[in-house]
Amino acid sequence: MRKSTRPDPSFPIILAVESSCDETSAAISKNGEILSNIVATQAVHENYGGVVPELASRAHQQNIVPIVHQALRDANITKTMLNAAAYTQGPGLLGALLVGSSFVKSLAWGLQIPLLSVNHMQAHILAHFIESPQPQFPFLCLTVSGGHTQLVVVRDYLDMEIIGETLDDAVGEAFDKIAKLLGLPYPGGPHLDRIAQQGNPKRFSFPITSMPDLNFSFSGIKTAVLYFLRDQIKQNERFVEENLPDLCASVQATLISMLLEKVEAAVSQTGIREIAIAGGVSANSGLRNQLKVLAQQKQWQVYIPKIEYCTDNAAMIAMAAHYQYLGGQTDTLTASPNPRLKFGKQSND
Ligand code: KG4
Ligand code: ZN
Repeated sequence: MRKSTRPDPSFPIILAVESSCDETSAAISKNGEILSNIVATQAVHENYGGVVPELASRAHQQNIVPIVHQALRDANITKTMLNAAAYTQGPGLLGALLVGSSFVKSLAWGLQIPLLSVNHMQAHILAHFIESPQPQFPFLCLTVSGGHTQLVVVRDYLDMEIIGETLDDAVGEAFDKIAKLLGLPYPGGPHLDRIAQQGNPKRFSFPITSMPDLNFSFSGIKTAVLYFLRDQIKQNERFVEENLPDLCASVQATLISMLLEKVEAAVSQTGIREIAIAGGVSANSGLRNQLKVLAQQKQWQVYIPKIEYCTDNAAMIAMAAHYQYLGGQTDTLTASPNPRLKFGKQSND
């Protein structure tokens, strides 16, 4: 029988599992270095125009064992070499989170290793520490995903404060819902981004809601686009197909300006000039380009993750788990998922 001993826990080897929404992912890190990161995207939801929670849970159940095995194999690590096991505790879909948490808790119990419960949104931010260049503390992070839009002051790996967030829809949700109105498949964000690259961003303008503080609101623009399209289609039923690139480019430009306006305000308020973006929408080519241009004008230092670390992945969960492990923030087996899990200090606490 092959014998493997657990290595020095000051260079921890951690298995991390992400299952908060429609990606089943597993990663292995060794002393904060990612050795493998396997992501299985659930295609089943495309037929329904959105994530179906029950189908997501079932797909996680089917994927989790092979994905974890593949992550271990690719990292050349055996289960008995693990020092800790981490899972996404929330926020996310309860049924989906339960699959990852039950699996990881059982594994931690079976191997008698510590359990680490990770906040998904904090992990998106810590994806910046997977590779170099890495932001210097304190930095400002605009975290933009399918469920959240947050402006966060990051003082240390696990010391974060939310200074602004959306009061209704997340920006990823706005991308996806507007893409759906334009007849694009789910998830619409990446499709809208691709088509926008051929369009004129100044062709159409939409009324937007601007909050006086650092908070966001994206439900208004979705309704504005809905009414605009309804009126235009009354006059020309081929309006969307004839103007798709310009519509995508104009919507994208509006959403990006709503985001960057708040980043500028947050810089003025905090004086912090190290700026990062994170989460699925940080894969958007327009946002990435415009942030770089703005940073040059304003002399900010910007950090933009590789595309594979923008959308959901377990490598980011492993990074957060690594710092939690070093900080002794392990959990007990009674820990359970929380679909509305929050982190850090909230500005309205
Ligand atoms: O972080 P993420 O993978 O999952 C959540 O935690 O929600 O973010 C998913 C969101 C979806 O709304 C998706 O449409 C959006 O990120 N997204 C994009 C792009 N790639 C992903 N939105 C705009 N442009 C993109 N290129
Ligand atoms: Zn996410």
